[in-house]
Amino acid sequence: MDVSLKTITNPATLRTACLVLPVQHQGALPPETRRIDRSTGGQLGRLVKAEHFSGEPGKSVLLHGPQGVAAERILLVGIGKQAEADAGAFLKTVIHALGVLKETGAREAVFCLSDIDTQGCDLAWQLQQTGLLAKSGAYRYTRTLSKPAPAPRLKKLVISVGTKTTRALVRALAEGCAMGEGINVARELGNLPANICTPAYLASEARSLARRHDALSCKVLDEKQMEKLGMLALLSVAAGTRQPARLIVLEYKGAAKSDKPYVLVGKGITFDSGGISLKPGAAMDEMKFDMCGAASVLGTMATVAALKPRINVVGIIAASENLPSGTATKPGDVIRSMSGITIEILNTDAEGRLVLCDALTYAERFKPAAIVDIATLTGACVVALGKHASGLFANSEDLAAELLDAGEAVRDRAWRMPLWDDYQEQLKSNFADVANVGGSQAGSVTAACFLARFTREQRWAHLDIAGSAWESGPKKGATGRPVALLSRYLLDRAQGRGKSSAERAGK
Ligand code: BES
Ligand code: MN
Ligand code: ZN
Repeated sequence: MDVSLKTITNPATLRTACLVLPVQHQGALPPETRRIDRSTGGQLGRLVKAEHFSGEPGKSVLLHGPQGVAAERILLVGIGKQAEADAGAFLKTVIHALGVLKETGAREAVFCLSDIDTQGCDLAWQLQQTGLLAKSGAYRYTRTLSKPAPAPRLKKLVISVGTKTTRALVRALAEGCAMGEGINVARELGNLPANICTPAYLASEARSLARRHDALSCKVLDEKQMEKLGMLALLSVAAGTRQPARLIVLEYKGAAKSDKPYVLVGKGITFDSGGISLKPGAAMDEMKFDMCGAASVLGTMATVAALKPRINVVGIIAASENLPSGTATKPGDVIRSMSGITIEILNTDAEGRLVLCDALTYAERFKPAAIVDIATLTGACVVALGKHASGLFANSEDLAAELLDAGEAVRDRAWRMPLWDDYQEQLKSNFADVANVGGSQAGSVTAACFLARFTREQRWAHLDIAGSAWESGPKKGATGRPVALLSRYLLDRAQGRGKSSAERAGK
């Protein structure tokens, strides 16, 4: 899908397959729509009346062959009461319009945003979100289908704005489009079955991404190299599978060498059976999505590489399968992590924290400005927050605020959870420095507390995306979250926006 921005002074003369125009509450026509209505000799106004079109967000009427204008169709979309229209209403309108456009069979369309004046969100934001939704709305899974649904005909969207197309507006649209494409990278990897998307496959995808962008480089560590580094926690997860584990490191250089990088660490369990602590069978297929943290790191690196912000970013992926076998790690086994902390593995299904703790220790060598890990870590997080919010845990107040703000700005929201030391005692072990599970209470918090032990010296945050990374049921599939949140966070850092005073002082 090609998305572009234009200042169109007279949409009535525009040759397009479909002109998308807003209509307000109770069918009132805003100025631009009214102007085109006059060109059609009042056809739009009559249609709105005849159809009793309410003009509510999420509703529309389509007119074929309008008179007096060059467009082949006009799609009137509701935007509701302008005084009350908020970000949510705007997004509802755009999502609905894109959905209808796909059904019309139009190959391209012009979207008139000039009359949509939403409370508290400016034109730049509207462009960002429209770009994101247009790109991500064009995604379709085809890879393993012998008869995939036909590709939607809509290939081109021109967004018409009343004002001049400033550089800031063009940039906002480009950011949204790049986020949409990054989201699709993450969705595709998430959706691929685990017999295709193995740790080696993730590594080859990372390498091919690096080949496509000069500012990206990629390094992949194999099991031997990880063993040398002492990553025995990560390797203990791979002990039961024939798929060799990988540690994937992607580096994006957009700023001076001396600029501390932002490090993203993704959980890349390409299939989580639970290991010897085997999961029940129901919905176990969904554990192919247990690499969605890794997928979001790759998607975000793709977004960043496309936009070239002045910032350094490192993406680290801890990739392994978690299967039972005669060589698998057993409950009660004690292993030594790269940090030196010994871990009693009481449940082999709590494997995400085991691969992450070594990746987090590895991350320290980059002397990061901040580390953010992203993981489908706990079922308990789904119980706590459902699918709407990712769980956010952080040992730094300003880092937490920056991530929450970024999520809010792109509607890929997170909700902060506690990381208090009070919870640490649940991780006590008689046979090692720490146990890998903390009992039945506050499972997502104790998982985060486990990780916190490995990031004490760092500005660190953890996003538990177990609920937000994929949809179950008839719409089963990866969502690409939280690529938008992470991308917005990094772009804001590059623009020096919302930098904390400590960060500006270089601490
Ligand atoms: N990948 C799962 C978490 C998960 C489960 C995400 C269900 C989404 C839906 C993780 O590796 C896991 O199995 N966690 C255990 C931890 C427990 C053993 C302490 C869990 O949540 O049950
Ligand atoms: Mn597990
Ligand atoms: Zn898992």
